[in-house]
Amino acid sequence: MQTRRIGIIVNGVTGRMGTHQHLDRSLSAIIRQGGIRVGTGAAIMPDLILTGRNEDKLAALARAHGPPAIGKPYAYTTDVQGALDGKYGDFEVFFDASATQQRSRFVEMAVKAGKAVYCEKPTATVTAEAVRLARLAGDAGLKNGVVQDKLWLPGFRKLRMLKDLGFFGRILAVKGDFGYWVFSGLDCDQPAQRPSWNYRAEDGGGMMIDMFCHWQYVISNLFGPVRRLVACGYTGLPRRRDEAGNVFAATADDAAYAIFVLDDGTVAQFNSSWHTRVRRDDLLTVQVDGEKGSAVAGLREVVVQSAAGTPKPVWNPDVPQPVDFYAGWQTVPDNIVYDNAFKIQWELFIRHVALDEPWKYTLMEGARGVQLAELGMRSWKEQRWVDVEPLQ
Ligand SMILES: NC(=O)c1ccc[n+]([C@@H]2O[C@H](COP(=O)([O-])OP(=O)(O)OC[C@H]3O[C@@H](n4cnc5c(N)ncnc54)[C@H](O)[C@@H]3O)[C@@H](O)[C@H]2O)c1
Repeated sequence: MQTRRIGIIVNGVTGRMGTHQHLDRSLSAIIRQGGIRVGTGAAIMPDLILTGRNEDKLAALARAHGPPAIGKPYAYTTDVQGALDGKYGDFEVFFDASATQQRSRFVEMAVKAGKAVYCEKPTATVTAEAVRLARLAGDAGLKNGVVQDKLWLPGFRKLRMLKDLGFFGRILAVKGDFGYWVFSGLDCDQPAQRPSWNYRAEDGGGMMIDMFCHWQYVISNLFGPVRRLVACGYTGLPRRRDEAGNVFAATADDAAYAIFVLDDGTVAQFNSSWHTRVRRDDLLTVQVDGEKGSAVAGLREVVVQSAAGTPKPVWNPDVPQPVDFYAGWQTVPDNIVYDNAFKIQWELFIRHVALDEPWKYTLMEGARGVQLAELGMRSWKEQRWVDVEPLQ
């Protein structure tokens, strides 16, 4: 087997996303499976160096994740600039999963060093900055990308398959419901389960900036581009407790309600909330209603109901509901094995860098997500519909 090494600097790796989705379930999983197969007799093998601020945390991660993948701890350093300068070996890709407010500076450093750049979303909290970063990398001729993992969730892949099969006929409406209860940390024995910066606008937190980036690429890739939107944010829990046990003012929206109108007039309505209790099939469900059939996608499972299988309910609150509405749906089978969504996108990016294969999830695409979030906030603030102008 011929192996082509690809050096990757994994920055912000001590965070929730960096550790679980990127280091463990994507990059280490790729190494453990023997790299990315290319043709019959070759593979591309990632070679990692972990970077961040805290040496002890980096060392612990290197020791925990390196041995099962490479038989020894991963390389690590707190000297990000040194890693970019080649002080610790040759690394051609820089990946960043640090907190959003840090993104610009790290992307700039990576571009200056001439690296291919891949990073978490959002790429910035304002469109102008996201576009600036995209142009910086593009003008330097560097391959670049942003995480748009939801596209490879089994639920959304099945929706795409249904659409390609013509199951829906003409699509009329899309209805997304995302969220769950994120504990404030103020109550006894109920610690918060997400980073506290997510609830502070000044630190890059907030529901719109977090989730509208996802809705933008999900909607545009599955159903078409968004042309107009109206949105309303809300801060349901104004006080929360942080990682150090201190109570802080939650300055960011922890819920957002939006109506997106697409190019062809389809209405996509998305509720996003960190103060809702789940009574639906999954933490995110997306219902697609078409003339010929409807589907409801969770993260993995999708159920469908065709025009012929649609019951005819009668409104009568005086008797118990006679129709079991959940019974009239059929589960779409798993006809393939669905790999981790982040890992699939990593493999595509690595192939793009190493083999020059096509890639569309660029920093400019990431900027479109930031734009949708910024327009959502403008709509909320100005209490009006806003148009989405195409980004160049
Ligand atoms: N794709 C997705 O589904 C998804 C989901 C959640 C979060 N995210 C994004 O991933 C990024 C990280 O989120 P998270 O939930 O892992 O957050 P986190 O708070 O768990 O991790 C943040 C990381 O940034 C580092 N960091 C913070 N301040 C820093 C500074 N001043 N200098 C250097 N490093 C610093 C931390 O050490 C940590 O490694 C965010 O941009 C977030 O929007 C994406």
